[in-house]
Amino acid sequence: MPTALRLGIITTCLLLAACGPKDPARMKSGEELYDYYCRSCHVERNLGARLERLPSDRAQLKPHELVLMIRHDYTQPSRHPDIRLPQLSPEQADAVAQYAYKLRHQGN
Ligand code: HEC
Repeated sequence: MPTALRLGIITTCLLLAACGPKDPARMKSGEELYDYYCRSCHVERNLGARLERLPSDRAQLKPHELVLMIRHDYTQPSRHPDIRLPQLSPEQADAVAQYAYKLRHQGN
């Protein structure tokens, strides 16, 4: 393979790695994690991207319950569908739970 071509391939790979979508395993902020793991489903279910259309009579999980839901599939007493994201670290689960709890308690 000519050196120029080889260099071109290596450069392309490096650029893709640097500019590609962020690896979710490295995400730290609740907002970033929420946008990656949670948002699209809430939009699909017509709850609003920030849960703003969630009917106000619904159960309100506390942040620690949201952590249990995220890491261990605990959903009582809410009607939240089962989502299990054991790949989240305790810190990530905590960050996204705090963020979602805040959303839930803003203006609805
Ligand atoms: C498979 C789709 C789906 C995914 C993925 C999802 N949700 Fe939900 N979420 C729902 C539905 C449906 C409801 C409404 C439940 C109800 O009607 O009581 C909801 C409601 C909520 C509520 C409000 C209800 C409460 O108990 O306070 C919070 C907070 C919430 N989701 C957090 C999250 C977080 C955090 C994530 C990501 C880690 C997430 N959700 C991912 C479907 C989803």
